[in-house]
Order: sequence, then structure tokens, then C-alpha cells
Amino acid sequence: MTTPAPLGLLAELTHRCPQSCVYCSNPIDLTRKSSELSTEEWMGVFQQAVDLGVVHVHLSGGEPTVRNDLVQLVEAAREAGLYTNLITSGTLLSEEGVHTLSEVGLDHIQLSIEDSDPGLADHIGGLSGAHLRKLTAASWIRDTGLRLTVNAVVHRQNLHHLDDIIDLALSMGADRLEIAHAQYQGWALKNRDVLMPTRAQLDEATQRVETRREQLRGNLKIDYVVSDYHGIRPKACMGGWGRQFFVVAPDGRVLPCHGADSIPELCFDNVRDTALDEIWFHGQAFERFRGTDWMPEPCQSCPEKTKDWGGCRCQAFALTGNAENTDPVCDLSPNHHLVESAVERAVAEQGQSWEYRSFGGQSSSLHPTASQDIEE
Ligand code: SF4
Ligand code: FES
Repeated sequence: MTTPAPLGLLAELTHRCPQSCVYCSNPIDLTRKSSELSTEEWMGVFQQAVDLGVVHVHLSGGEPTVRNDLVQLVEAAREAGLYTNLITSGTLLSEEGVHTLSEVGLDHIQLSIEDSDPGLADHIGGLSGAHLRKLTAASWIRDTGLRLTVNAVVHRQNLHHLDDIIDLALSMGADRLEIAHAQYQGWALKNRDVLMPTRAQLDEATQRVETRREQLRGNLKIDYVVSDYHGIRPKACMGGWGRQFFVVAPDGRVLPCHGADSIPELCFDNVRDTALDEIWFHGQAFERFRGTDWMPEPCQSCPEKTKDWGGCRCQAFALTGNAENTDPVCDLSPNHHLVESAVERAVAEQGQSWEYRSFGGQSSSLHPTASQDIEE
């Protein structure tokens, strides 16, 4: 099977972040500021990505706006010919900063919200005053004419506000709202039992989204992503391993997906010492689960194998200890009972006690400098 050129790059500019969301999907071990790629190194990555065939870059984190060279990076990515999308919590944006980003050619912003209620939103994100700052940032974004998508992660603790979240996105001037159920990867796996909705809650939410989508057609586009755990077939994670996207981590390691460094058998090449096209076409981590040859049964003889590419390798590793196993979300997997029992446990779980994203060993709670431990 010929390896296609990648379409998209997820540039994780930093792991530093002022929030400490309970469903953070970033790895447990984070990269420190002192190990982050420099401005010039990122510029080189963007040019190499374009040469490889990449057409869009998602500037993400952590919180990408903690980088004081963000404007330079956006400018460089645009000059290289990339469509630029900034994925931000918005808590550190200034009015002047938003205007400058627009002037240097930023194409699109995705702004995350945690809830419609300011108190609950700040509680989920672990940062006092964050919600209000996001609403202010949205008004600056709207003033510039930049295209805005609002991202809202939903789960058992905020699903009852679903209608209000949709209304809030409308009032923020969003062109698009992405409602995504929490995925239980990275830090989020620790809080799975508190976050996972029951099947009835999920079905009600799905029905509600469909109704509102019809009502708002032409005013607000709503995308909706259901949690893997409530399906019977997995999604093609990242569009298939090493097929469409790659991630450059803050320290320059190149990963097939944002969770891949949770899989111990993988070795990641670094843009500091290896060319990007060499990594994409021949890197061990990319070759390991590319295509279908690596697949065990039941995937190997399954007609779906070139549609979902066997699901998510990181989820298979997290739940079964072996990344080569069929994703347990699939009801054909011999490990599907692990997903079913997690869903059952969620029905029984009544508490609201969760563990905030930790940055360097200490969990934080409503702490405004949550990421200070990884500053150096
Ligand atoms: Fe996909 Fe494998 Fe399940 Fe078939 S058996 S649907 S290829 S995960
Ligand atoms: Fe790594 Fe799905 S997150 S393959």
C-alpha cells in the first residue's frame, strides 16, 4: 500500500497552560519550557511540512498563546502557504493580540468553553475568572471578522446545560460549534467514571443536538462527536495511523497522534535531527501501525479494516496493555467487555470528585498559575 502525503499538522507549541481541565487529553508527562522548539525551529517545521504536502496547521498546546512568539509563528506558517487554525482557551488573549494575529493572516480560531454557567465552567477548567475572559476574547475575535468555532466538551457534569451551551455559542458570534463528548485519553482517563454519561443521558443529548441543529440551520453549524465508549464500532482515529495527520510535540518529537507517547514500544524521531519527510515515510513509530499488515484478528479479516483502520491504538494500549489489540470499543473485540463494564460503572458512580490536570506532580485546583511547574 502506498503511503499518502499528510494533509494536516498539529503543532503542539507548548504544554504550558493556565487551565487544568479535568478531561485534558494531553499526556501524563509534559514537556518543559526549556525543551520547547525555538521560533526558528518551528519555522523550519512549517516549511518542511509544506514541502511534504501539508495544507493546514493547527496551532495548539497546552495553551499556544503562552508562547510570546505566536505572532511570528502564525506569520511564518502563512508565508509558507499553510491554512492556520489557532486552538486556544482564550484566557490569555488581549484585544491588541487578537488584532495582530488577524493582521498577520491567521485564518481561523477555535475557542474552548467548559460550560454555559460561569461558576461551573471555571470549576471544570480549574481557573477562576476564565469563563468571563473567554467571552471577552470572543467579542474581540468577532470584531476582527476572524472565523470562530466554539469548542465545547460535554460530559455527565454539564450535559444538563446543553441548550444553554448552544445559545451561548450563538451569542458569542460563532460560525460553528463543535460539541464533543469527553474522550477518555491522557489525563481524562483518570476521571472517566465521573465524566461518563449514562446511555439515557447520551441519547437525550443526541436528540437535542439534532433538534437544535435543524432549528439553527443557516445561523450556526453544529458538529457533534460522541464518545467512543457508547458506540459499537471505533472511529478511524486521526483518519488512520500515519495516513493524514501528524503531531509535532513541543520538544520536536514527531508523533502519529497526540497520545502516541503513551505506547512504550514506539520510538519517536525528532525534527531537530531528522528530516520530516524521512520521519513520515520511514519513521519506526509511523511504520508500526500504518496500513493493515500489523492487524490481528478479528480486524485482519474484517471488511471494515480500511474504513476505521482498527480504531485507536492508544485506547487499545490504555485499556488492554497491548497497542496491537483491536480497539476494545469494537464489539467484535474480545476485550469489548472492558468498555461495557466502564459504562456500567459510570451508571453507578454518583460523586463529583475529580482530579485536576497536574503539571509536574502536584494536582492543582482553581489555581491561576497551574502550569508554573513546567515553566523551566
Ligand atoms: Fe474495525 Fe477491527 Fe472492529 Fe473490524 S474488527 S470493525 S476492523 S475494529
Ligand atoms: Fe493515538 Fe487514537 S489517540 S491512535
